[in-house]
Amino acid sequence: MQKKIEILKNIFWIGVNDFDTELFESIWPLPQGISYNSYLIIGEKVILIDLVKNTMENNFFEKIKKLLGTKSVDYLIINHMEPDHSGALKILKNLYPEIKIIGNEKTLNFVKLFYGIDSNCQCIKDNETIKIGNYQFQFHLTPMVHWPESMVTYEINNKILFSSDIFGGFGTLNGGIFDYEVNLNYFENEIRRYFSNVIGKYSLLAKKVLDKIKSFNIDIITPAHGPVFKKDPGYIINKYMKWSSHETESGVVIVYASMYGNTQIMAESVARGLSENGINNIRLYNVSKTHVSYIINDIWLFKGIILGSCTYNTQIFPYMNNLLCLLENKNLINRHIGVFGSYSWSGGALKGLKDFIEKSKLNKIEPEIEAKCHPTDDDLVQCFNLGKNMALAIKKDFN
Ligand code: FEO
Repeated sequence: MQKKIEILKNIFWIGVNDFDTELFESIWPLPQGISYNSYLIIGEKVILIDLVKNTMENNFFEKIKKLLGTKSVDYLIINHMEPDHSGALKILKNLYPEIKIIGNEKTLNFVKLFYGIDSNCQCIKDNETIKIGNYQFQFHLTPMVHWPESMVTYEINNKILFSSDIFGGFGTLNGGIFDYEVNLNYFENEIRRYFSNVIGKYSLLAKKVLDKIKSFNIDIITPAHGPVFKKDPGYIINKYMKWSSHETESGVVIVYASMYGNTQIMAESVARGLSENGINNIRLYNVSKTHVSYIINDIWLFKGIILGSCTYNTQIFPYMNNLLCLLENKNLINRHIGVFGSYSWSGGALKGLKDFIEKSKLNKIEPEIEAKCHPTDDDLVQCFNLGKNMALAIKKDFN
């Protein structure tokens, strides 16, 4: 029999692990799965906070039944309507038809549009506090972090922040639920991968949310994915502050697209230029091999980006183009960027990379290099110089 997992007296983690879904949102790889966290409060009233994906409903409702027996769930607070957290709503409503659903105006509209439910709903406003039994819930809207209806719920008496996607990450909870039970280095990386890929576009709005949250007295953070922060909630708040402010570390991500190895040689010369000039955090990725999710995660971490592409049908190589589309969407700032390209009979890749820089707010490092067929010795010297100049710019920033 599964043991109850109590966050605090009468407040239970009833999340589920999804080991099967391959791509979160059909884009982001889940090699180590993901957890959907839900919380059940059993006080004078029974209150559920957030749900799980509909494919995980059996495991989820079994946990509820074990804790409640024949008792009903009185209230559901919905922080976020993305179906990884609301998918089980229709079944919940069928099981507990009298349940009251609490959400903001946009949430309740989505509840109707996604699930056809519009009865017994209570609409709350930003900063509103309501008392349910012996608990006091305060609601704070977090629009576009990362859906328009998103919000967090702060339980005042126990100083718990139910933070929804904020502070959440990829990876199942393999026995350990709390920050002091898990490998935090692993989860920090997976939380940043979630942040950079899923939420990153709205990082400046996330920063505003953090500025508000910082003034709360928080003992426990209970996110909708990943571990519960009970020992040190400040740890993940500080990380999030850094990521949402585009505060980076000394290091460079080189990403290249190469069909027959010529552009790869250029990338390796760039890397040597970085290394000989004092950069030791160098991540070198073949964009055709490594999923963009991991590349974007590293780009979020480091100060420098260098992109190289061969030409394919007079344009940037398709996988590199995919990366650029996603990066364009992330509104990156406070970083340096350099580019190089190659072609055989018609150019196109370097021009596309330069267009990307022009549309961005990134600081361009020279030189740009374009090789025809196989890079010449002079091309490779120029690639080395690109790495060297990037290293000098970064060293200046971090000294
Ligand atoms: Fe975890 Fe925005 O869904």
